[in-house]
Amino acid sequence: MHVQFEITTRCNFQCFYCTGRDFVQGDMEYRDFNRILDAHVERYGVPEIVSLQGEGEPTLHKHFFKMAAKVRELGSVPTTITNGTYNHPEHFLENFESVGVSVDTLNELTAKRIGRYNLPKVISFIETLSKDIRVWVITVAFTKEVPAVRRFCQERGLHHVVQPLQSKPDYAYRYPNLQRSSRVRKGGFWCRYIAYPLPRHYAMDATELPCCYIKDLTLYNGIKEMAAQAAKGTTPNVCKGCLFGQRLMNRWGPDPDPGRNDGVVSIVVGLFAQKKRQSHIWLCLRCLMTQVF
Ligand SMILES: C[S@@+](CC[C@H](N)C(=O)[O-])C[C@H]1O[C@@H](n2cnc3c(N)ncnc32)[C@H](O)[C@@H]1O
Ligand code: SF4
Ligand code: SF4
Repeated sequence: MHVQFEITTRCNFQCFYCTGRDFVQGDMEYRDFNRILDAHVERYGVPEIVSLQGEGEPTLHKHFFKMAAKVRELGSVPTTITNGTYNHPEHFLENFESVGVSVDTLNELTAKRIGRYNLPKVISFIETLSKDIRVWVITVAFTKEVPAVRRFCQERGLHHVVQPLQSKPDYAYRYPNLQRSSRVRKGGFWCRYIAYPLPRHYAMDATELPCCYIKDLTLYNGIKEMAAQAAKGTTPNVCKGCLFGQRLMNRWGPDPDPGRNDGVVSIVVGLFAQKKRQSHIWLCLRCLMTQVF
């Protein structure tokens, strides 16, 4: 099981697409983190991976590395996604085997415009850390500069994940002019996050969620209620507009109804992308297909 903790909502960046900038700004107390983690272990067992990140910059939490050490102690693998501005990359070496760093563009002006400041520092963070541990780069694809980031990663042997802007209203109100239409496929709702008790996301206020994409908690009635709606093929209220609640977006996990016409195409594309070890091809084609089919 993959568990995620939103340990902070604070950030030193102002990415225009980040819904966290509108959240109450604060940190999860270390004792709450411990309590939730222990309760999680008691209920579901020791998670394989614990990711310390939500809609804030995790390295701003004063107990970030203490939390990572606690995760290790438990027998889980700590991981995180950071904006790459932490001053001491060497501090990651003790407890992290891999770290994700967000880079949307290599153009300093564009980065600043997005709200991702101090690009040279981020690049230097990646170059220093990747000498010792596995660094993967995450790019939100909304500029034409993705190929340059891809080349940067290829040259350094870094894994590159490209993701589209989230189309859920919880996020998309931040970028009304960039919003993609999110089409719900015929055949009903299905999302692996609900179909299988795979991940859990603990929001800063300790709310237990099935994934990290539910930001408007006013509509949230709990995982059981979501599962009940999903079992009827109805899209749960909190999932409306989500890119991942569509069959085509769920080829990462087993599909209970694999005999659908999108299966062959996406399996072939998936195998091709896996062979090439280029997840961005897979993601881009998946998004494209979501629009086409
Ligand atoms: C929420 S951030 C938190 C970690 C850290 N502050 C960072 O930016 O890397 C985690 C990842 O989500 C991505 N992200 C944030 N808002 C998004 C959105 N509206 N659509 C798609 N990805 C988004 C960020 O670019 C980042 O790669
Ligand atoms: S760096 Fe991360 S948390 Fe900060 S504003 Fe950007 S996406 Fe949000
Ligand atoms: S459809 Fe989206 S919001 Fe709903 S459970 Fe799946 S990933 Fe989460």
